[in-house]
Amino acid sequence: MDDSENKTTNPRIAAGAQTIADIITNRLSRRSFLGGVSAAAATAGLGCATGPRSAPNAAADVTFAEIARGAGGDHHLPDGYAADLLLRWGDAVFPDSPAFDPYNQTAAAQERQFGYNNDFIGYYPLGAAGADSRRGLLCVNHEYTSTRLMFPGLSGGRIPSREECAVEMAAHGGTIVEIERTRNGAWRPVLDSRFNRRITSGGTAMTLTGPAAGSDRLKTRDDPTGRQVIGTMNNCAGGVTPWGTYLMAEENFNGNFLGALADGHPEAENHARYGVPGGWYQWGRYFDRFDVSKTPNEPNRFGWVVEVDILDPTSMPKKRTTMGRFKHEGAESVIAPDGRVVVYMGDDQRFDYVYKFVTARTFDPVDRTANLDLLDEGTLYVARFGEDGGLDWMALNFGEGPLTPQNGFYSQADVLIETRRAADLLGATPMDRPEDVEPDPASGRVYLMLTNNTRRTAEQVDAANPRANNAFGHIIEIVEPDGDFTATRSRWDILVRCGDPADPQTGSMWNPATSENGWFGSPDNCAVDPSGRLWIATDGNEATGANDGLWALATDGDKRGTGRAFFRAPNGAEVCGPRFTPDGKTLFLAVQHPGDGRGTSFEAPSTRWPDFAERMPPRPSVVAIRRQDGADIGV
Ligand code: FEO
Ligand code: CA
Ligand code: CA
Repeated sequence: MDDSENKTTNPRIAAGAQTIADIITNRLSRRSFLGGVSAAAATAGLGCATGPRSAPNAAADVTFAEIARGAGGDHHLPDGYAADLLLRWGDAVFPDSPAFDPYNQTAAAQERQFGYNNDFIGYYPLGAAGADSRRGLLCVNHEYTSTRLMFPGLSGGRIPSREECAVEMAAHGGTIVEIERTRNGAWRPVLDSRFNRRITSGGTAMTLTGPAAGSDRLKTRDDPTGRQVIGTMNNCAGGVTPWGTYLMAEENFNGNFLGALADGHPEAENHARYGVPGGWYQWGRYFDRFDVSKTPNEPNRFGWVVEVDILDPTSMPKKRTTMGRFKHEGAESVIAPDGRVVVYMGDDQRFDYVYKFVTARTFDPVDRTANLDLLDEGTLYVARFGEDGGLDWMALNFGEGPLTPQNGFYSQADVLIETRRAADLLGATPMDRPEDVEPDPASGRVYLMLTNNTRRTAEQVDAANPRANNAFGHIIEIVEPDGDFTATRSRWDILVRCGDPADPQTGSMWNPATSENGWFGSPDNCAVDPSGRLWIATDGNEATGANDGLWALATDGDKRGTGRAFFRAPNGAEVCGPRFTPDGKTLFLAVQHPGDGRGTSFEAPSTRWPDFAERMPPRPSVVAIRRQDGADIGV
């Protein structure tokens, strides 16, 4: 989402704690001297850049005819490709879902329909030994609601009604729906599948598990156990685990709270560190749990990673407190060589951190049930990016280093509830808004999207965040030694610095082979396709004068750092997902908040994509992209 209201809450930054500018300058000068992308790779000593995958995954492998930068009300794809609409906001998820009527919305109807602002997309194959590319479960997050685009009559300043707020709560969360590929190659939802499910902010009961569950700081009037929560919200990126569960990351939860804490309330400092209450929405007017003056602990019950067993639609989702509490963006997992599972996560706020979680036990490939609570035990680490290209993963363990009663931590529950403050004390590296973090199991590399940070000053630059006023973001490649994702000492390098390569003022860095359409700004989501190629989706590319989209980005050989434009979103939309089927023939993309923009509303959106009907508002939608000749995407 647009992050303009998402102000820095890191006190280390407010206090000007970063003072290593000199060493950084040295590193940057060395890079400038060497110049070029491959030289930068060499400096960081990316000895295992070729990784276990022997075939290079350079953009030389992608042969589609690049599309042009630009803007407009419709989406664009290369010649020979088709994008089929799969699910739109309001579409049926069940046989009895009410027909979508944007002029008479109810929470009860929205609970049975596809939600708003689709973000993460997961695909879990059904049958065919886990590789089925014809039938699977699609897991889609619904990140937030664009109130003025959803409901009529709000442009004049009318305050949303109680029912409209309840609709918003039903439009958050996630959708699990079985889909199948039809004979002509298009996909369709299977409405009568027993797996179909909506998960929402207002209607889905879930439990808190792990070390923070039951903490006094999670107890409320309605839940004296500190273990039972209604709903999840602000579900941005996420993940699907190898054992068939869906991880939903709770991101900007602070925005849904209103009110003020009583003077001297013990949660005041904690809430301030998370920007609570954000006051972006009106839910707290009508629902006491979203008013911190009435329910001061409710914000501590959000900001977690939620795990959902998608193969058991009656199962209760679990908020896994082991993975910390912050503005979670993404939770992509990978199995390390020793069988432990590693989950990579970003905390999407200016000057916040990158994390990974390593399970204590190993993945059991035979007994699925043995994996269902794997994420309840393990170690959470936060990243410190060294000036020398080294990366230290520092454990967030109660009783170690500064994480003691002397600093207000009395248990691991406190460390997890206040993950950000714990990471502050460990000296983690404040980043330029960490978005998606994607491991490539075949190469041992991990791609980290840093979307932008215009508030970084010249005094605050460091090796991993090398630009002041970073308007366009950058992408970091982490190399886990010998593909060991559990490592606590890794290497890193910058893959590209985004922005216009033709404008030296941007300080961008691309492979010179990148065309005038191949560069972009504000990387947000990414995917590694079945052939190991990296794809980048943007949120905020309009700062470069063109709509958001999806680009292929080469990571190897002499093409490393070359972008190529593949998909252009309609006006106002960011691009999320992306997700490939195992056979590489379908690419699912989530087109989020089409029609958005300054001064837009339900009555006056910047596009009416995808229906283009006069009285129909724009609808966030998932599209399924395929080649019309049936070949693999991208080649
Ligand atoms: Fe919800 Fe960080 O994008
Ligand atoms: Ca986004
Ligand atoms: Ca995002």
